[in-house]
Amino acid sequence: MSYMLFNNEIVERSKCVDIEDRGYQFGDGVYEVVGVYSGEPMLMDEHLQRLERSAKEIQLNLPYTMPELKRQLTQLAAQNQLEEGIIYLQVSRGASPRWHEFPEGNIPAVTVAYTREEERMTDIEDNGGTAVLTEDMRWLRCDIKSLNLLPNVMAKQKAVENNAVEAILHRGDTVTEASASNVFMVKNDKVYTHPANNYILNGITRQKILELCGEHTIPVVEETFTVKQLLEADEVFVSATKSDIIPILKVDDHTIADGTPGKITHQILKHFRMFISQIEKNVHS
Ligand SMILES: Cc1ncc(COP(=O)(O)O)c(C=O)c1O
Repeated sequence: MSYMLFNNEIVERSKCVDIEDRGYQFGDGVYEVVGVYSGEPMLMDEHLQRLERSAKEIQLNLPYTMPELKRQLTQLAAQNQLEEGIIYLQVSRGASPRWHEFPEGNIPAVTVAYTREEERMTDIEDNGGTAVLTEDMRWLRCDIKSLNLLPNVMAKQKAVENNAVEAILHRGDTVTEASASNVFMVKNDKVYTHPANNYILNGITRQKILELCGEHTIPVVEETFTVKQLLEADEVFVSATKSDIIPILKVDDHTIADGTPGKITHQILKHFRMFISQIEKNVHS
């Protein structure tokens, strides 16, 4: 049997959605995806901090504290005996007669969380994949992890139709991020990534990578770069929860450098895996 978190209760997983849930009708809500490795939710505090921020930015009141939510999500993962996978969590502004403006009165937010088994993607992390380029058609608050994902869906579909792992997005000449991950390039031993502003989601994996680069004296520049610079980079990689770090070997028809995973990407992946395995070890020792 599989369980889900519904508001503040862990219940049997159901397929019921209220037709007038604002998340369902407007994408009026926020979400998070937490990776679970060897039974251990990873970087949960960071994910919940981002959830709190996203909710605040759309004026959605969360009816619980983050430590309370963390306890319930941890219990959910344990109850579902999740070893490798994700916890998906979404909070909508609630169910109410369909009018665009916020509902009057204090209607409660609707929180739903469930878990899904997903293997680690070690093969593609080690060997890399290809990407396509596509115009970034999203709104101007990509820093909010909102339920509105149609442009991301369209971009990812383009990637899949081209046998690519990701669609790298650009606004005009500027590379922003990818359909469901952050984008990095390496040039002359320096790592470049778009600054964390309203044009990108500040990935939890991205933040961890920047921290690891700092600890291991790998120079990082949080600056925008162009599509041309991306195509002429020494290395390109993308990062996201659970798929971790994936080297990009080709973008559209352009092979990146010699078309093999780069040495700095490999170092960062090694440090990232070390971080994961230390947490696993601490928990299971
Ligand atoms: C648009 C976008 N950027 C970046 C990311 C990576 O974020 P994180 O590392 O927190 O998973 C995601 C993850 O879903 C995403 O959807």
